[in-house]
Amino acid sequence: MDNVLSFIEGNRSRYLEELTSFIAIPSISTNPENKQDVDRCSQWVSRHLGGIGMEHIEIFPTAGHPIVYADWLHAPGKPTLLIYGHYDVQPVDPIDLWTTPPFEATIRGDNLYARGSADDKGQVFIHFKSIEAYLRNGGSLPINIKMLIEGEEEIGSEHLSEFVKQHKELLKADLVLISDTAMFAKGVPSVCYGLRGLSYMQVNLTGPNKDLHSGSFGGSVHNPIQALSEIIARLHDDKGRIAIPGFYSDVLRLTAKERAAYKKLPWSDKKYAKELGVQGLYGEKGFTTLERLWARPTLECNGIWGGFTGQGAKTVLPSRASAKISMRLVPNQKAQKIAELFEQHVRKLAPKSVSVDVQYLHGGEAAITPIGSPGVRTAVAALEKGFGKKPLYQREGGSIPIVIQFKQLLGLDTVLLGFGLPDENAHAPDEFINLDNFFGGIRTSAHFYNELPSYLKRGKKK
Ligand code: BES
Ligand code: MN
Ligand code: MN
Repeated sequence: MDNVLSFIEGNRSRYLEELTSFIAIPSISTNPENKQDVDRCSQWVSRHLGGIGMEHIEIFPTAGHPIVYADWLHAPGKPTLLIYGHYDVQPVDPIDLWTTPPFEATIRGDNLYARGSADDKGQVFIHFKSIEAYLRNGGSLPINIKMLIEGEEEIGSEHLSEFVKQHKELLKADLVLISDTAMFAKGVPSVCYGLRGLSYMQVNLTGPNKDLHSGSFGGSVHNPIQALSEIIARLHDDKGRIAIPGFYSDVLRLTAKERAAYKKLPWSDKKYAKELGVQGLYGEKGFTTLERLWARPTLECNGIWGGFTGQGAKTVLPSRASAKISMRLVPNQKAQKIAELFEQHVRKLAPKSVSVDVQYLHGGEAAITPIGSPGVRTAVAALEKGFGKKPLYQREGGSIPIVIQFKQLLGLDTVLLGFGLPDENAHAPDEFINLDNFFGGIRTSAHFYNELPSYLKRGKKK
C-alpha cells in the first residue's frame, strides 16, 4: 500500500495534465452538434484505460452514445468491483458567466475549474489513477475490477439499462462503486447512502390556432401562457406540498433515527440562504431543509416559454405555451406511475379553453444503500484513511438513474463515494473540483480497493 500511495504523491502534476486533455473534449451528450466529440471522448476513455493497464477494453455503440467497458480480473478468489461513471457533460450556457473557457481546465486557488471537472470526468479519472497506481507500479490490484463508463447519464441513461439487461454475465460483480456525488462540505468527507429519482415532463398548451393581435383579440380567448401559469400555480398547495392526488402514497417515511441523525449534522439554514442569495428558504412544511433535499419528493418548473421573449415589446396573444417540469422522487415512488398521476392531474386542471399535450421525457427511481452494508463500511474505512477523518452519512437530492437498475437487474448494492462539493457549480458556469478532494479521492479509492475484501468477507460470514 505504501508504494501505491507514494506513486500517487509522485505523479500529481502528470495527473492534472492528463485530466486537462480529458476535459478538453466537449462531450455534451444533449447537443447533436457534439456527437463527434462524445464519440471522441469515448475513444479517449478507452485508450486511457489501456494505458493504465485495464484489459478487455471495448466501446459498445448504442442507438445513442457509446458505452465503454474494461476489466482487470487477475485476483482469483477476491471480490469483483463494478465501477460506474459517465464521460458525458452538461451544456455550458450561459457561456458569458464562465471566468475561463469551460473546456480549458484552469487552476485558481485550490480548485480546478472546467465543465466536467467534478461531474463526472474528474471523479471517473480519480479511479483511473488509483487503478494505475497499482497496475503500473509493478504490482497488481487487490480485487477484480470492471469499469462501465457511459456517455448518456446527463440525458437520462436511456440506452444503458438495455445494455445492462443484455450483458448480465459481463457485468457480474459483488458491488457497484460510483464517484459522482459530493462530500457534505469542504473538509467533511461523507458516504452517500441515498439518491432521489426523477420523472421529467413537458406540458404543451395550445389556445387559438395562430398568434393573435393582443389588442384585437385580447379579452375574447384564454391566453395559453396564463392558462399554463394557472396550472403550474396549482401544483403546490399553501403548505408547499405537491397537490397531485396520490403523489405521496408510496413515499417511504423518514425513520426517527434518520431524522435524529440529520439534526446532528453541521448545518445552518441561515448560512445556506446567504450562500444562495435568498432572503428565506421555501419548501414543504414540517420538514427540515436536509430532509426536504434528501428524503422528500419535490416538483420544479425547469423552464417555461411562449409568446414574445425578444428585446423590446410586441403585443401578441400567443397560440402556444410550454413548460418543462420535473419531479424528484424518493423510495418507493415509481417514476412511470408518478408521470401518469401528473398527466391526469394536469389534464384535470386544464381549462376547456386550451388543448393539452403532456409528454414524459425520462425518469428513474430513487435508491438507498443500507448504512450497515459491507460496501458502505468499506467506504467509511477508506475515507478515514484517505482524508484522515471519520466520514458522515448523508443522502443526496440528485439522481443517477442506473443505480436502482443495478439492484433490480444485477442484484447489486451501490456505494456512492463522492469527491465533489455541494457548491461545485455542477451543471452551471465555473464548475470546479477541489484539488484536495481530487488527490484525497485518488488515495481513498486506492484504500477502498485494498479494504474491500476484508469487509465483504465479514459481511458474508454473518
Ligand atoms: N452527478 C449527478 C447526480 C447528482 C447530482 C448527485 C447532485 C448528487 C448531487 C448526475 O450527473 C446528474 O446530474 N444527474 C441528473 C440525472 C438526470 C439527468 C436523469 C440529475 O440529477 O438531474
Ligand atoms: Mn454526474
Ligand atoms: Mn450531472
